[in-house]
Formats: sequence, structure tokens, C-alpha cells
Amino acid sequence: MYNAKDLVQQAINAKSRALPTYSNFHVGAALLAKSGKVYLGANIENSSYGLTICAERTAAFSAIIEGEREFEAIAIAGDSDDYISPCGACRQVLVEMCGKGLQVFMVNGKGEFKQNTIDELIPYSFGKEFLKP
Ligand code: THU
Repeated sequence: MYNAKDLVQQAINAKSRALPTYSNFHVGAALLAKSGKVYLGANIENSSYGLTICAERTAAFSAIIEGEREFEAIAIAGDSDDYISPCGACRQVLVEMCGKGLQVFMVNGKGEFKQNTIDELIPYSFGKEFLKP
């Protein structure tokens, strides 16, 4: 069993790696694979704004390229008053790459957090089962 507070702290620490040139909103993520390894992410912005990538997706994609396919949990930390809430695009990526049971810890600027599964955050999600072979 993993330590949720430790994963949350790693997400908080990862905020310092963000490159939020335009929004100045730092987001950090820490994704725990079933292998026990943690993959960090942070948001990276671009002057062509739509090319910005969120912290959750940088973490997910770096885990995937390392060969990870099974995941336990992700912590996401922002400097917001309310608990940060992953955007729709990241919910779709996380449910498909990490599985419906992924635990998501959403952390506010004070370091407090709440928890939901990704399936609770994106019910009725689209997935490969909809695609014809
Ligand atoms: N952002 C994330 O990295 N994750 C979220 O869950 C919400 C939003 C980033 C994208 C952009 O760089 C900045 O926060 C403002 O939207």
C-alpha cells in the first residue's frame, strides 16, 4: 500500500518544475505506477497557447515511454484555493492510460487534498471498446 501523503508531497514539489510562462499557474503531478516508481509532471506552456501541456499528461506520457502500463494513483497539486481539478483532456488520457480505478488526489494551495477515482471524474468515458477492429 502506498503513502498518499508522500505522493501528494511529491506533486507539491513538482510544481517547481513547471514552465507556466503565460498563466503563472504552477501545477505539479506525481503518478505512481504499480511497479512502485513515481513519474513526475508539471505544466509546460507555449506562446502558441494550444500547445501547452498539463502536468498530468507530462507525467502519464513519461511513464508510458518508460514501459509502464499499470498504475495506482496520481496526485495533482496547484496553487488554487480550491482543490485542483484535472481538465477534460487529462481525464480522458488518464482513464485510458491508467485505468478506471486510478486514485486521483487533488491538492489545493495549502496542501490539503481530496480523493476520487478517475472513473468518478469522467463517467461514461470514451475508450478503445467503441472502436471497430
Ligand atoms: N493545468 C494543469 O497542468 N493541470 C490541470 O489540472 C489544470 C490546468 C495547467 C494548464 C495551463 O498551463 C495552466 O494550468 C492554466 O490553465
